[in-house]
Amino acid sequence: MRRKLAAGNWKMNGCAPALEQISKLCEGLADGNANATGTDVLICPPSTLLHRMSERAGGRIALGGQDCHPETSGAHTGDLSAVMLADAGASHVILGHSERRADHGESDELVRRKARAAIAAGLTAVICVGESKQERDEERALEVVGRQLAGSVPDAVTARNLVVAYEPIWAIGTGATPTLEEIAEVHDHMRARLEERFGGGIGRGVRLLYGGSVKPANAGEIFGVENVDGALVGGASLLARDFLPIIKALE
Ligand code: G3P
Repeated sequence: MRRKLAAGNWKMNGCAPALEQISKLCEGLADGNANATGTDVLICPPSTLLHRMSERAGGRIALGGQDCHPETSGAHTGDLSAVMLADAGASHVILGHSERRADHGESDELVRRKARAAIAAGLTAVICVGESKQERDEERALEVVGRQLAGSVPDAVTARNLVVAYEPIWAIGTGATPTLEEIAEVHDHMRARLEERFGGGIGRGVRLLYGGSVKPANAGEIFGVENVDGALVGGASLLARDFLPIIKALE
């Protein structure tokens, strides 16, 4: 039985005042008992907030980075290693988000190396895949997602140290979402590819998230789709008043 996961990607949003949101989220979870029922909650803030957020989260909410370098240490100005993220309080790291693939030219091979480093540091890698609008229109979504999955996920994974997020690029921050049938088709495809490669135990145990314009209004129907084990939420994870109903929709 896979535990549900509500993950928030704050991207390059949030500085010190955002710390209030994590306190509100913790209070909301405590009031509603939201994470006592098999739902895990993860927030991936800018790395500068990890340490202070880990003090506020008090273990109720898992924390993650948004990227890491494939090496452990060295002459890489501006980069952070997976070991450093773990040291700052992270248990997860998002890798291969389409914004990093586009802004920093990240390839599947680089994402795979980063994932290896993350897992070696004891983190869970949240690997993102997803097609562009043009690829969707050309009916190549399954092919693109399958290729990214094969290239970005390293060999040595378990059901605990890997999460895969399907984020169609055209649905990110746009208000547009695929149909429920389209989400189901891609998630079933990812599940089948993982089972094929890693066997039933790992393949069936890895959690698959949907990401792209998830809001309180559409979370319930998206979470009803088979093989959707939760969401990777951008904008709607920045405020507790939006993220809490999404977490509750997973219960
Ligand atoms: O990683 C989450 C993200 O890309 C989705 O963003 O704002 O559409 O929920 P948003």
